[in-house]
Amino acid sequence: MTFRTERVTTIERVLDVHIFRRWSISVDQYMSKNPIASRKEAWETLTERLRVDDPSVQFVAVIDDADDEDVRNDDTRFAETHGIVGAVDVTSTSDTNVYLKNLMVDDRVRRRGIASALIRDVIEYASPKTVVLTTEDQHSLYAFHGFQLQEDGMTMVLEQQ
Ligand SMILES: CC(C)(COP(=O)(O)OP(=O)(O)OC[C@H]1O[C@@H](n2cnc3c(N)ncnc32)[C@H](O)[C@@H]1OP(=O)(O)O)[C@@H](O)C(=O)NCCC(=O)NCCS
Repeated sequence: MTFRTERVTTIERVLDVHIFRRWSISVDQYMSKNPIASRKEAWETLTERLRVDDPSVQFVAVIDDADDEDVRNDDTRFAETHGIVGAVDVTSTSDTNVYLKNLMVDDRVRRRGIASALIRDVIEYASPKTVVLTTEDQHSLYAFHGFQLQEDGMTMVLEQQ
């Protein structure tokens, strides 16, 4: 299995991320059950219903080899998310800091460097700002990327200046 990462730039992709995180049904499923005129309207209704905390930026990992037989036979969820197997949100909290949150990788494709690739995307996007996150575990993964655990034992900080 190979993968690429990309920044989310379309409403369809944002919705794919919601499906990946099991927060929602697909917009097509939603529209088939609800008399709504357009995908845009369906999206707006879904967004309202889910009370989405709209992150300013998202990055996703997408499998490159969806045509590979092994991948295709593995599970249909890859098709439902249009190949998304990992996602992360970034919010700007100040002029100097960005916050990394909601990092998640599909449990069937972990330990292949997908989270690391997404973390690298966030670091590059944030530069030269400081990247902050809160986590009770996974400290070694973030430490590998240069994050330093703070005294509270939960906050990790990567200064880039
Ligand atoms: C935490 C999580 C995002 C990691 O995703 P991942 O894609 O498996 O992460 P990576 O593959 O980049 O790295 C994970 C480990 O695999 C190792 N690894 C990376 N590539 C590897 C490879 N090709 N072969 C073997 N191991 C590999 C890394 O060294 C890392 O080891 P470590 O945990 O001992 O530091 C994933 O387990 C997850 O979604 N967990 C549930 C949600 C969660 O906890 N999110 C984080 C909240 S802060």
